[in-house]
Amino acid sequence: MPDKHTLPVLRSAVQTCRGCTLYKHATQAVFGAGSAASRVMLIGEVPGDSEDLAGKPFVGPAGRLLDEALALAQIPRDEVYVTNAVKHFKFTRRGKRRIHDKPTRYEIQACKPWLGAELEAVEPDIVVVMGATAAQSLLGPSFRVTKERGHALTTELARWTFATVHPAAVLRAPDDEARRAAKEEFIADFDVIGDYFKKL
Ligand code: URA
Repeated sequence: MPDKHTLPVLRSAVQTCRGCTLYKHATQAVFGAGSAASRVMLIGEVPGDSEDLAGKPFVGPAGRLLDEALALAQIPRDEVYVTNAVKHFKFTRRGKRRIHDKPTRYEIQACKPWLGAELEAVEPDIVVVMGATAAQSLLGPSFRVTKERGHALTTELARWTFATVHPAAVLRAPDDEARRAAKEEFIADFDVIGDYFKKL
């Protein structure tokens, strides 16, 4: 970790991170995106294929769903810092495709100092953990997103912390009906977050 924890310093330093072995196969580390003045910080799991190539978080299909939920909740994009619990893409090759793999507990732990430094640099009023990986990293292994989603939680991370599912999980729902229902719930979670955002 560098001595100075400003976002530009961290963003550059993370490219030389050797805290776990994921750097070996990824194109680059994908650091968070957004202003240090953002009042909301959204935390996903790990960059996907598109993010690994672009070097920016949530630029693929999951990012588009996220943008839709933010717009409906009337949370301006420039008030949002978006990042992931793990900064390097983890995948298995299947033919030409690179299929996303879940990070291990070890990889989540190894990457945590970067996430902690982002929280320190941004000091958001609202933190949103999306999915079990981000929840495990920041709220511990026994935290259950399905039980705690949709309401404000009191934590040390921010004034208000929220948990919701990962947008990619919504897109992976087994059929159209399940996908429609999962999307509705995801958008409802963001509506609640939007209500708190208006109180800031
Ligand atoms: N899924 C994530 O968790 N993060 C991204 O940046 C993209 C997809």
